[in-house]
Amino acid sequence: MEFKLGKGSLASFATDVAVVTCFERDGAARLERSDGGVELDRALGGELTKLITSQKFTGKEGKTIIVPTFGKVTPRYVLILGLGTRKDCTIERLRKAGAIITKECDRLHAASFAVVLEQNSLNGLASARRLQAVIEGAFMGSYRFERYREADARSESTFARGTFLTAGPTKLFEKSIDLAQSIGRAIHFSRDLSNTPGNDLTPTILAQHAKRVAHDLKLGIDVWGTAELKKERMGAFLAVAQGTAEPPALVHLTYRPRGKVRAKVALVGKGVTFDTGGISIKPSKSMHEMKYDMSGAAVVLATLQAAAQAKLPVAIDAYLGATENMPDAKAVKPGDIVTARNGKTVEIINTDAEGRLVLADTLTVAAEKKPDYLIDLATLTGGASYAVGELYAAILGSDQKLVDRLLAASANAGERLWQLPLEKQYLKTITKGPADIANSGGSTASTIMGGLFLSQFVGDCRWAHFDIASCAWTNEDNTLASKGATGAMIPTLISFLSSL
Ligand code: BES
Ligand code: MN
Ligand code: ZN
Repeated sequence: MEFKLGKGSLASFATDVAVVTCFERDGAARLERSDGGVELDRALGGELTKLITSQKFTGKEGKTIIVPTFGKVTPRYVLILGLGTRKDCTIERLRKAGAIITKECDRLHAASFAVVLEQNSLNGLASARRLQAVIEGAFMGSYRFERYREADARSESTFARGTFLTAGPTKLFEKSIDLAQSIGRAIHFSRDLSNTPGNDLTPTILAQHAKRVAHDLKLGIDVWGTAELKKERMGAFLAVAQGTAEPPALVHLTYRPRGKVRAKVALVGKGVTFDTGGISIKPSKSMHEMKYDMSGAAVVLATLQAAAQAKLPVAIDAYLGATENMPDAKAVKPGDIVTARNGKTVEIINTDAEGRLVLADTLTVAAEKKPDYLIDLATLTGGASYAVGELYAAILGSDQKLVDRLLAASANAGERLWQLPLEKQYLKTITKGPADIANSGGSTASTIMGGLFLSQFVGDCRWAHFDIASCAWTNEDNTLASKGATGAMIPTLISFLSSL
């Protein structure tokens, strides 16, 4: 899939599908002059207008009309696409538009589309921003996870090339295209990692993926196995890893930009490649989905890839805390007390609260390097789905300015993020046992409890925690994501990193 800029008129552009967009206005749709719709209509003897009227097409979001052109203009088809009302034109809508365009191309067995990129800002969104959103949407909507299906059961995709016709600032637009493609590929990459079952995505294999990314982009990489974790006194991480035959991996990647460094950011991802719950075993009903319990690590690795490709002027240290969580003769038992790297003792009440154990030590290591910002992403609590639902990620943090920046980044990226309080009073309930802290218990607000636990392992860093257990996975196919992993929060993180 490739996107580029072009010049000239839509009616004479060599492409399979000419796309014209329509806004909904007073319950009716009208073709625009500015995107070539009026010109095409004229060249087709007014057929487009007639179809809009006869099909009662109002420009409602996502509605389409496909018109074969029978050689009257160069493109073989015109795709009229409704965008809804102008004032509701958001990043998300434009992404959906990008997804619908590519889906319609595939349905027509077409390889290419062209669309006019208008110069003016639309509902506060500059052309470069809209361009980025449409391309991101094309990537999001075209993703399929089919590598385990036999060849003729895989969906066929013919779409290969999208062109944006513009007379505008080429350099700026080209940068948008590059960034959007990097984000799009990052989303595909993280979805692939999360959708891959535990047998084919062990901690060792996740580390191999990280090594490949590091090699391709000339990043630094260091992988700690059991021996190093022991030497570095990471007792909380090891408590989870001791119950599985698969060796754990703490992957540390470094990206250093050329020239001036605007900020030093540490990104930490939960990489539990399969979470059975351990001795506190999970019910079997949805256990198979716990292959996506490494989505935090997948999002961190994919974000790093996109940031390095875009050569963002920030120094990034990425940490992937990878292990399985299995019940085994050697597994950690409820009630066991272990010592974390920062010296705190932890009573493991529930072996299914393993993510916070892995992250506790990984955050400690990341915090020791004194980054300007320390951000972790984790499918930490099932409660996140109850707190904010599947469209949102939950965010909690020790530094309100950082949280505010991330909230602003999510709005700018067209994703949904909602802050929950790090209520200190709830902490008391898990600090009264035989150890310094317990890994479970306290308030029923489990997402807050997870965040509070982590807050004890970040030193005095400016820190924020994304609980993505809600939004990392979708149970149904929708326009921007097929059933499975979503890659949520990659656009938000890139937007944040770009804003520094
Ligand atoms: N990986 C799970 C959280 C999860 C559940 C993610 C469902 C996605 C969907 C995590 O390790 C876990 O088991 N959390 C427990 C914590 C509890 C034992 C304190 C939970 O949320 O129930
Ligand atoms: Mn668990
Ligand atoms: Zn887990």
